[in-house]
Amino acid sequence: MDTEPKFFETNPTAGVVGQPLNRVDGRDKVMGRAKYAAEYNQLPGLVHAVLKTSDVARGRITGFDTAAALKLPGVLAILTHQNIPKLAKTPNDADGKKAIGAPMGFLPLTGDQIHYAGQPLAVVVADTLERAQHAAAMLKVQVAAEKPTASYEAPEAQLFDPEKIQDGKAAGHVKRGDAQAAFAAAPVQLTHKYTHAINHHNPMEPGATTAHWEAPDRLTIYESTQGVTRTQKAVSTMLGLSAEQVRVVTKYLGGGFGCKGSCWPHTILAVQAAQAVGRPVKLALTRPQMFTSMGHREDQTQTLRLGATKDGKLTALLHEKTATTSPWDNYTESNSKIINMLYECPTFEASYQLARANVMTSTFTRAPGEAPGSFAIESSMDDLAYQLGIDPIEIRLRNYAEKDPSTGHDWSSKSLRQCYARGAELFGWSQRNPKNGATRDGRLLVGWGMASASYPVHNSQGTARARLYADGHAVVQAGATDLGTGTYTVMTQVAADALGLPVEKVRFELGDTKLPTAPNSGGSVAAGTVSSSVYMAVQDVWQKLTKVAVLDKKSPLYRANPADVEAKNGRLQLKKDASKGEGFAELMKRADLSDVEGNGQGRYGSGYEDAQAAANQGSASANADPSKKDEAAHHAMHSFGAHFCEVKVDPDLGTVRVTRWVSVHGAGRILNAKTARSQIIGGSIFGIGCALMEGTVRDQHFARYTNASLADYHIPVNADIPDMTVEFIDEHDPYINAMGVKGIGEISMVGVAAAVANAVFHATGKRVRELPLTPDKILNAKAV
Ligand code: MOS
Repeated sequence: MDTEPKFFETNPTAGVVGQPLNRVDGRDKVMGRAKYAAEYNQLPGLVHAVLKTSDVARGRITGFDTAAALKLPGVLAILTHQNIPKLAKTPNDADGKKAIGAPMGFLPLTGDQIHYAGQPLAVVVADTLERAQHAAAMLKVQVAAEKPTASYEAPEAQLFDPEKIQDGKAAGHVKRGDAQAAFAAAPVQLTHKYTHAINHHNPMEPGATTAHWEAPDRLTIYESTQGVTRTQKAVSTMLGLSAEQVRVVTKYLGGGFGCKGSCWPHTILAVQAAQAVGRPVKLALTRPQMFTSMGHREDQTQTLRLGATKDGKLTALLHEKTATTSPWDNYTESNSKIINMLYECPTFEASYQLARANVMTSTFTRAPGEAPGSFAIESSMDDLAYQLGIDPIEIRLRNYAEKDPSTGHDWSSKSLRQCYARGAELFGWSQRNPKNGATRDGRLLVGWGMASASYPVHNSQGTARARLYADGHAVVQAGATDLGTGTYTVMTQVAADALGLPVEKVRFELGDTKLPTAPNSGGSVAAGTVSSSVYMAVQDVWQKLTKVAVLDKKSPLYRANPADVEAKNGRLQLKKDASKGEGFAELMKRADLSDVEGNGQGRYGSGYEDAQAAANQGSASANADPSKKDEAAHHAMHSFGAHFCEVKVDPDLGTVRVTRWVSVHGAGRILNAKTARSQIIGGSIFGIGCALMEGTVRDQHFARYTNASLADYHIPVNADIPDMTVEFIDEHDPYINAMGVKGIGEISMVGVAAAVANAVFHATGKRVRELPLTPDKILNAKAV
């Protein structure tokens, strides 16, 4: 079936980093020993909470009829806005919102107002899940319903300019040069509108919280979150407790995809319920509740105008986005960022418009911004190629950005050219018939399409701790989370490599606010930041041991200059004479040290500095190049890649099957060939889902979702996906962080929908700009 993962020579010390190690937590997962947030069932007196949610999308609560429900056996509490324990601060308060952070700017059960269908109106607590569900069904809530606004397309929807997009990372208005004038003067002008369906994250593990008050001022939360620290901050702020009083534990996650990147209402409601009944409470969202509880990718349209010369050189890019947002939030994905940086273009302008509707707020979803933004630019680039009779790769090469057009900075590294070349070679692109609708396999139309991918290395810092024991094992810790993608595994590899220990002798611990603070596993930052933290923590261990060695008369390194000492394969030795040195075990034994602890910080943009500092104090350097020092802060840092897709389209039924796939990425150092390949496969499959199947339908009258289940919200299954070829370009980036790791969480999804749409266009001559590309749209489209 699948091709064997390759060994990548990305590690200068040629150790275990990069190797296709099996997941260290794989066995625990298949044996059922891995504990997820809803599986802490041994807590004494654990009870169950169920949400009673609103059927109407807008209105007011006028009363509760709790009598029948309260009479049922095992029912402990029915909590409503009238009796739920009070919070010190809620996200509804202006300052509370800031402290807690987007996207949770409105908390249910704080008043009688109903803002969206699926909003929790009450929390029912009982001794068993079934009794809680039964009582929730018996509970009656009286509601005065009003007509809701369902989306930005509703006639009454009021569009407004958010000025600054809520995530704060990208201003809503971006302008470079005079794009309007450049467009007006362009010999080639393209104007196209793209629409994107609502997407839901649908991780295999729905959101869940187990809240345990161990004392009136001490709370432990077992939570399904991408960030224990962010949850700790949100919950402690709302409760008026210090961060130390709230511990958040997330040992395993069954996927997140952005929906677990924030603290959502069900978490704080579970905490309040546990407070009310004085027992640990478990609250697990149901699959349908997942559609209204943890955000989604918003319904949106983009209009992209593209001006070019007759030989295909871009002169103007103008991007407008219109999307739905919630009654309280300005969240919207920043689609324009990738359009502003992917190709060399002298002018650029972007603007956003939002409309408030009665929906749960949208949030980060699988390459937020880059995924839909790349659909627009990469479809339009394909149009430009066809219009001018230029090969789709050639049009991209003619507009290749040698510097970041959005900042003018040099790239820290960029291998997109190599990605195109290698991808084309693997795919057999040179055999492509440039005419669309001209290639057949029996009665099926065959199409080949491609698209570029890019994702930024986001600014992120974190810390880690490493403890090396004289008996030759180590425990390494960071409060990171493993979404299921391999954080446990790759961090074990990084630590084992830096310590010179076999991987079996290293235990990596994560997912607990008691551990050194790590960033949210979001925005593709975890691999780079946490691996750099771990690497630096181990360097700290070696520096401490070097100090012990040079003061120890019995050490071969006695009186050596620490700067002349390096650590290699678990030994401290002279850089110039490796025979002069000793293993850590002998040294620690003589010094009567049972263990040594090191702490390290992984920092964005400090690759050279960190590595150099570590090297100067007597340890191996990850990637030091002194000539790069002053430039470290002045580089644009991105991963790049290219996707190649073959589809077969049934001309009578409009069905599309993806039959071949090639992805090649340049993403800095790859920490594990197998997990990296899996991650690219997974992200690309979600991209194919977004292209062909995924879409949540919101009823335009009631503002309710009509397909809120995995039976009706389609995602690809194995039978929908061919063997996929994934490769990485060997890339050494001296700037990004101490390990030279860019991260591959999101880039795997970027450009995928466009690659599929471009292949469909090649097969059929039909250009569909509305995701997903379902058979009805393909049959209805006209061939050009
Ligand atoms: Mo990612 S959508 O930042 O979890």
